[in-house]
Parts: sequence; C-alpha cells; structure tokens
Amino acid sequence: MTENLILNLFKGKKSIIPLWFLRQAGRHIPEYYDIRKKENNFVKFCLNKNLIIESTMLPLKYYDLDAAIVFSDILMIPWAMRRNVRFLKNSGPILDPMIPGETKIIKNISIASKLEPLKDSIFSLRFDLPKSVSLIGFAGAPWTLACYMIEGKGSKDFIKTRNAVWSENKWFMELIETLIYYISDKLEMQAKAGADILMIFDSWSHMIPNNFFNECAINPISKIVKILRSRDILVPIIGFPFKAGSSIVKYSFESGVDCIALDWSVDLSWANRFVNKDIVIQGNLDPASLIPKDSIYLKNNVLAILEKMSDRRFIFNVGHGLTPECKIDNIKKVINIVKNYNK
Ligand code: CP3
Repeated sequence: MTENLILNLFKGKKSIIPLWFLRQAGRHIPEYYDIRKKENNFVKFCLNKNLIIESTMLPLKYYDLDAAIVFSDILMIPWAMRRNVRFLKNSGPILDPMIPGETKIIKNISIASKLEPLKDSIFSLRFDLPKSVSLIGFAGAPWTLACYMIEGKGSKDFIKTRNAVWSENKWFMELIETLIYYISDKLEMQAKAGADILMIFDSWSHMIPNNFFNECAINPISKIVKILRSRDILVPIIGFPFKAGSSIVKYSFESGVDCIALDWSVDLSWANRFVNKDIVIQGNLDPASLIPKDSIYLKNNVLAILEKMSDRRFIFNVGHGLTPECKIDNIKKVINIVKNYNK
C-alpha cells in the first residue's frame, strides 16, 4: 500500500514532495457544472451529502493528488448564524450585512447539528478514499468571516469592517470571539468525522490594519488551535494568511499552526530565511500561470519553487484557489513535473 505523503511530512519525515491544489474541486473542471446543476441553490448544494461527496472526489478522477478537500464553503458558518447567505450567479456571495454595535451576535448555535451533512459526507469520504490520500476539512478564519458578515459581500477595501475595528471595537471583538468558538466547533466536527488535516482560510488578512494584526489574525488562530488541542483534536492544522506580507513571519511563529500556506506574492527565498523552520510550508504557484496554453514559463516556475523549498518540509500547491480559466492540461503538466522531480 502506498504511504500517506502529507501525513508523513507532518510526522517529521522529509521525503517525496506531496501536492494538491486550492479550490481543486470547482469550476475549472467542466464536469463540475453537471454536478452543480443537480442543485441550483449553492447553500443547499453544500448541505447535500451525495453532492458533497461527488464534487470532493471529482478532481481525483482527473489528477494524481495527495489530498482531497471536502466540498463546502467558508460561508456556511455565517449561514448557520442566520445571516441569509445567498450565492447569486456570477456575482459571488451576498449576506444580510451586520450593523456594527447594533446587530445582535447570535450565541449558542449548534454548528454540528446545522452542518450534519458535512459530517456524514466526511465519514463516507474517509472510508472510500485510498489511505494514501489525505482528507482536508476547513473553515474560514474569524477575520475573513467577519469581513463578509459586516460588508454583506466581497469588497475591494472592506472599509466598513475596518471602520468597525476602530469605532465599535468591543462589538467587533465579541464577533471575533464568537466566531472562534463556531469555527473550532466546525473544525472539531470535521476531524471527528475523519478529516486528517484541517485548514483555516484567512482570505482577507491583507485588509487587517497593521495595529490589529495580532488581535484579528494571530490570536484568534492561536485560540482555535488551543481549543482544538484541548478537545483532543491532534490533526495537523494549515493556516493561510492570504497576502499578509511580512506579518506571515510572526504568524508562522505565534499562531500555533503546523503548516503555513503561502500566497503567490511571497518570495520563497525570503520565506525560506524567515518563516518558522519548525513548521511545514505549502504553496505558492500563481494559479494564473495555469491559464495560458503552452506557457514557456510553467516548467521553470514549478522547478524554481521546488528548488527553493528543497531543504524544507514542503507541500506543493497553488498560492490561491484555481479559477475557472485554469486548464486541466496545465495542471496535469505541473503534477508530472513535481512527481518526476521526486524520483
Ligand atoms: O475546490 C474546493 O476547494 C472546494 C471547496 C471550497 C469552496 N469554497 C467551494 C466554492 C473551498 C475550500 C472554498 C473556500 C472559500 N469560499 C474561500 C477561501 C478561499 C479563497 O478563495 O480565498 C472564500 C473566500 C469563499 C467565499 C466564496 N464562495 C466566494 C467568494 C465565492 C464566489 C466566487 C468564487 O471564488 O468561487 C464562493 C462560491 C463557491 N465556493 C464556489 C465553489 C466551487 C462557486 C459556486 C458555484 O458553483 O457557482
């Protein structure tokens, strides 16, 4: 039986470089649209056990990957908190915006019972997947969820959220603290159902005013890690402080994560020098480099990443999610390059 490369890496063995892709289960695979058609409402899609299983398995039909990420969305926690989450065609997610200082923050929601289909699908997936493939469960980080909940949608600068940090700090931190508990519950549920690894996406960490990076990005993750460990959840945890710049160094030492995912803007030679050497690094190919056909850059880009990370415990990945434009052929090429480099 083939070994589980990613879990070996976390046990301290530096051997063959494993790989998987952020947002590998989504819209760059035409077949995804056939599965997606079976349930028009995206929230209901994320609550349908069979559809979760089918879309999680989809990329493994195409690629030789070392991990599967369970199909869900970070906004399922705001949905459970009754923020009326909708996904409109071609315009991203919409929520009822929270008014800082005014909107009541709902406590005591049972995430495990609201997201039961996610638990059931992980249980089946772990049973069906080969042991060599790690199953990854995930959640959004408190800051990123707060951004969507206050703004009610994506934003170029999240000005309402940043304003809330300064003008309604007590309310804002209460929201962050509440989210810490719901996120811990969601991650705990996934690990107990069979997820081998947990990942926390802080997709908007580059919107945190620098004065608040500790309070809003590092301390909340460190609390989540401590809560999970205190509940005997010992699986490796990957943190993804997207585009957090030089703050990723502090994050790598103080958040308590076992692996830091690096985005496509990070210079890996710099990261190699300054990021905590006790933790695994994941990343950081630009997913946009997977769009052009017959790119003259692709092979050398991938090799350069592998070379720069050659003395680290490293998981090859993209530096942000695959987009619908990414080409299946390019992804296959990348996998070949990484697997051949390993030989
Ligand atoms: O392949 C996978 O990783 C599938 C699981 C997954 C989805 N969302 C499914 C999804 C994961 C890990 C996510 C995480 C997620 N969701 C993040 C963090 C990662 C990142 O990209 O920074 C964020 C910020 C979201 C919020 C979200 N969900 C947005 C902004 C959108 C719309 C635009 C977009 O980027 O896709 C979604 C919807 C969504 N989530 C889709 C998928 C496959 C597309 C929905 C569709 O089929 O129409």
